[in-house]
Amino acid sequence: MASNTHSCPQGDSLRVFKGTFIHSTDTDPMKTLDLSILGVNGLGKIVFIETVDKEEELAQKWHFRQEDIRELHPRKEFFIPGLVDTHIHAPQYPNMGSCLDLPLLDWLTKYTFPVEAKFSNLKFAEETYTKVVKRTLSNGTTTACYFATIHTDSTLKLCDVINELGQRAFVGKVCMDLNAVFPVYKELLCESVSETGRFVTELTGRKYPLVKPIVTPRFGLSCSSELLQQLGSFANSNNLHIQSHVSESLEEIEAIKKIFPNCKNYSDVYDKHSLLTDKTVMAHGVYLSDEELELFQRKGVAISHCPNSNTSLCSGLFDARNALNHKVKVGLGTDVSGGYSPSVLNAMRCAIDVTKILSLKSSDYEKLSFQEVFRLATLGGSQALGLDKVTGNFEVGKDFDAVLVKTNVPDSPFEVFPSDSPQDIFEKFLYLGDDRNMVEVYVAGKKVKPFAGS
Ligand code: GUN
Ligand code: FE
Repeated sequence: MASNTHSCPQGDSLRVFKGTFIHSTDTDPMKTLDLSILGVNGLGKIVFIETVDKEEELAQKWHFRQEDIRELHPRKEFFIPGLVDTHIHAPQYPNMGSCLDLPLLDWLTKYTFPVEAKFSNLKFAEETYTKVVKRTLSNGTTTACYFATIHTDSTLKLCDVINELGQRAFVGKVCMDLNAVFPVYKELLCESVSETGRFVTELTGRKYPLVKPIVTPRFGLSCSSELLQQLGSFANSNNLHIQSHVSESLEEIEAIKKIFPNCKNYSDVYDKHSLLTDKTVMAHGVYLSDEELELFQRKGVAISHCPNSNTSLCSGLFDARNALNHKVKVGLGTDVSGGYSPSVLNAMRCAIDVTKILSLKSSDYEKLSFQEVFRLATLGGSQALGLDKVTGNFEVGKDFDAVLVKTNVPDSPFEVFPSDSPQDIFEKFLYLGDDRNMVEVYVAGKKVKPFAGS
């Protein structure tokens, strides 16, 4: 245990950090807590966060000594909450940064189904999944909502790897009983449902504290109505989270209309199959109408905004402002490998850029600020996944999921000048920082970066 450890009423492992903490709240997209002191108990929960003038009082109450405090360097170091990636495909990691020359449906056929089919091989799965989880943790993703593949055992392997490396996650065994374009990569209806049941039972049985199952119909084009129905009723009767894709590209939406002629729109397809709940997160939603956004708001359905992917696959421009104005929960997703970056910082930048492009078309458009995308990447993501009682910011009672940012690492990708205000420094990190600046990452109080043994 680190030297900043001392006996306390919680047991033997109160840790105390002193310095700057930057986070979001419901009322403030970015709040800087300078000269503050934060305590984490042995269970990884934040037990206090106060200004330093309360140090003596806190030291008496929590029984720590001055020398137990880990002090951050002012201006050069600060904590932010761990980043939340609300949508990422772990098995598409081998393709990340390549295969981006086609639109969604052709991209799925030519590149994506073939790479996912390889995950029937457990050894390949374990090796690849270890790489992707290390990569996302290294980039400050403390919570991720993963799609895996149709293969139950290799999806369980992904859960083992995530648990081992200490990330918080939802993991979905992908369900798809239709695939005319790449028929070796699909399941039978009964198999898809029974394997989802087996996946949930086995994962629950492993009692991993931070890794939970999520029911995952791939999207309307790869699931029969019967499969959607059975997954909806399975998720609802077991109180499970649900993820899928919705209204990502125009070509996809046209195909949906043909297959589900009795549904009013794409959202109605999911709604008719009981898949829109307050535990549902839907990726993209680029073309959702105001009426569909109202439905999402009423049902408590969240949107995972994946701006890099939407641009990379030329899917479209998601109007985040309109979704937020409709009071829909919005988080950010990398959507690797439709998105080419595993970094939620990149998702923040792309999300700003998309609203800047939208503002070119309409001069009164209210762009997203860097403070707002920071909230989407942290508190917003935790709300989208129904985890905001546990993570998302530095409130007392939440788990300590955090990234220690260091601006002056020797190979830092940006410069800090004496004239920079603390806000300038944070903005430079948001636009230019990367994993080199994320020197330590904590999930539920446990240091998960640097990796054990490295
Ligand atoms: N729609 C259905 N499957 C996928 C996928 O793997 N990626 C993206 N971006 N959209 C999808
Ligand atoms: Fe996706």
